[in-house]
Amino acid sequence: VSLLARYLTVRRATERLAEPLAVEDQVVQTMPDVSPTRWHLAHVSWFFETFLLRTHLPEYRPLDPRYGELFNSYYQTLGDPLPQAGRGQLSRPTVAEVMAYRRHVDAAMERLLASEPAALAPLVELGLAHEEQHQELILTDIKHVLATNPLQPIYRARATEVLGEAQPLAWITFAGGEGEVGASAEGFAFDNERPRHTVRLEPFQLASRPVTCGEYLAFMADGGYARHDLWLSDGWALSRREGWRAPLYWSARDGEWWIYTLTGVGRVAPAEPVSHLSYYEADAYARWAGARLPLEEEWEHAAAGRPVAGHFADEERWHPAPSSEPGLTQLFGDVWEWTASLHAPYPRYAPSPGAVGEYNGKFMANRMVLRGGSCASPPGHLRASYRNFFPPEARWQFSGLRLARW
Ligand SMILES: [Fe+2]
Repeated sequence: VSLLARYLTVRRATERLAEPLAVEDQVVQTMPDVSPTRWHLAHVSWFFETFLLRTHLPEYRPLDPRYGELFNSYYQTLGDPLPQAGRGQLSRPTVAEVMAYRRHVDAAMERLLASEPAALAPLVELGLAHEEQHQELILTDIKHVLATNPLQPIYRARATEVLGEAQPLAWITFAGGEGEVGASAEGFAFDNERPRHTVRLEPFQLASRPVTCGEYLAFMADGGYARHDLWLSDGWALSRREGWRAPLYWSARDGEWWIYTLTGVGRVAPAEPVSHLSYYEADAYARWAGARLPLEEEWEHAAAGRPVAGHFADEERWHPAPSSEPGLTQLFGDVWEWTASLHAPYPRYAPSPGAVGEYNGKFMANRMVLRGGSCASPPGHLRASYRNFFPPEARWQFSGLRLARW
């Protein structure tokens, strides 16, 4: 498949995500972490304009030069970005004007990619992977926007389905020893996945599947949110301050727990993987269960060489589901799995030269690594070496956990 064909496929997929939304839905920002859909639609175009068109297509003229600052996310090398919390304070450019911006960038990218310029392929691949990351953010951000609204509108209706049971939890044993993690030099990977390097692992066990809502309900019933002995200090203080009693998007009605999803509100299904947990909640659950969170190297060692298969966004369910597969399962898709590893540079890590080096390299403090992708990740986007990262308090992603123990 040509680079241009891949480009057009990814761009179309982004726009399809906005189709169920009203214009009014696309401009709201409910917290600093949540960007309006309109901003995502524009920012991913800005990425191609900034890193490819402005430097590699001599005749390119920006549609509006002011968009350079307006839709810059955090690249200080490129000027003064609009503060993140300000993205929902703008009535202009309108959604229609942002779509015209997309058309303008697409037309120029078609000219740039017509000759299949091999030297630009790595940057185009980065732009496409970047846009796929924002596809997931469009879904998780609009979920926060819609769920925060007292009317709790849904993103898109879906026929109710009968879910299977979760498999009984089993422990898979790994011998440990010396191994390698990280992406090799060939093929696309983000810079934080490189270089591939040697690690030494103690023998460990990994749970066969993620923790389910049913298991998490048992933690809640056992006073999980009321027992300080289960919690890290920062998490305990935060959970008190914010009054956490359950995962984000759960609500108690008539003695039962209900959950908001992008396709509607329903009773919590015990078989589903639990999601929308902060790192602190995942860690407290693991302690309660007599286990721990895996190290990211353990997770990758277990996932390496396995097919990248699971419940992804193309199922258009946008909610985790149980799996009927036996053995080590659901490593990919359903829920991002918090690990006990800080997002830190690998040995001999070097960010890419230039502004694009700001992509991951400057977020290597105060963030924990999550692995495996979610039900909102685009299919084909993930790898065993893929390192996502969020601050430990983040709950608005499809973040859950898988237990590990020695
Ligand atoms: Fe971005």
